[in-house]
Amino acid sequence: MSDRYLPSLRQFLTHPSGTEGPDPELVFLIEDIASACRAIGNQVRYAVFDGLTGTAGEVNVQGEAQKKLDVAADETFERICASSRRLAALVSEEREEITWLKEPEAGDFLLFYDPLDGSSNLDVNLSVGSIFSICQVDSENASDVLKPGTRQICAGYAIYGPSAMLVLTTGAGVNGFSYDDRTGDFRLTHPGLTIPAETSEFAINASRYHHWDEPVRAYVDDCLAGRRGPRGRDFNMRWTASMVADVHRILMRGGVFLYPVDAANRDTGGKLRLLYEANPMALIVENAGGAATSGRNRILDEPPTSHHQRIAVMLGSRDEVAQLEDYHRRMTGN
Ligand code: AHG
Ligand code: MN
Ligand code: MN
Repeated sequence: MSDRYLPSLRQFLTHPSGTEGPDPELVFLIEDIASACRAIGNQVRYAVFDGLTGTAGEVNVQGEAQKKLDVAADETFERICASSRRLAALVSEEREEITWLKEPEAGDFLLFYDPLDGSSNLDVNLSVGSIFSICQVDSENASDVLKPGTRQICAGYAIYGPSAMLVLTTGAGVNGFSYDDRTGDFRLTHPGLTIPAETSEFAINASRYHHWDEPVRAYVDDCLAGRRGPRGRDFNMRWTASMVADVHRILMRGGVFLYPVDAANRDTGGKLRLLYEANPMALIVENAGGAATSGRNRILDEPPTSHHQRIAVMLGSRDEVAQLEDYHRRMTGN
């Protein structure tokens, strides 16, 4: 066994490389989120023994059938994080309304989360995850939760895969922590994650080809044309139907992920949700040197209009995201 000393999440959060000390209340909240993720990882692992497989019989605000684990994971976030003294509100994929925990005061925290992402993978025992984002309450209009992604002070996800990991940014780089169930700690195994600027791998649900707009169709056609096509090289393709797993792969080896607005989802503005899917992943990807766009605009600049708002998402390796923006500019004239 290696004698390499790997800092725990707490050691990492309380001894940052910068000069300014961290806000202890923020450290506690991130630790609570990590505890919630640890508990959710166990719920996923033991679901088959604990009667937590299958659907819960409810349809959530997104119009999607909730799984028992979606509901359990959502409750776990609340149970573990709600006593955090400066946490004012929870905004969850699985809750129609905002859950206010206290009278909001300037500087209090707002927690946005997708408790279980990729839950269609639960039935087939493939990777799922949790996504979260933290913003702060403003002095004016304290009950406003509609913050653009640039206002996030922390974003992260947990992946429940062959090993469980927590990937985190507080706005200065991206760090990955692996869960060691022998000690109960997340340990810093992947410091300073970066996404290579170039890639030859893309991820998209290709069954929606006939719904896609022209720029997306042309981009994918050109990738598939390989070395004899306009891109001049062969591309590989992966799609896991779990954004956490696809983004994690991109952080490990590069790539680009697309969930565009198309003819079948245009009425709802796309599939993925801005506040608790697109924004946290965009902050992580940008902090790792990648880029995140809706095709036309930087995701982090998008002003939210409602807390369950959806958006087109294209993110990953910088040069490839620039290509996608170029296809959109050329083919739609804006
Ligand atoms: P969720 O399980 O939280 O509803 O999210 C599922 C999302 C995302 O994780 C994934 O990239 C995408 O939906 C998969 O969509 P398709 O079923 O169209 O592939
Ligand atoms: Mn999701
Ligand atoms: Mn979900």
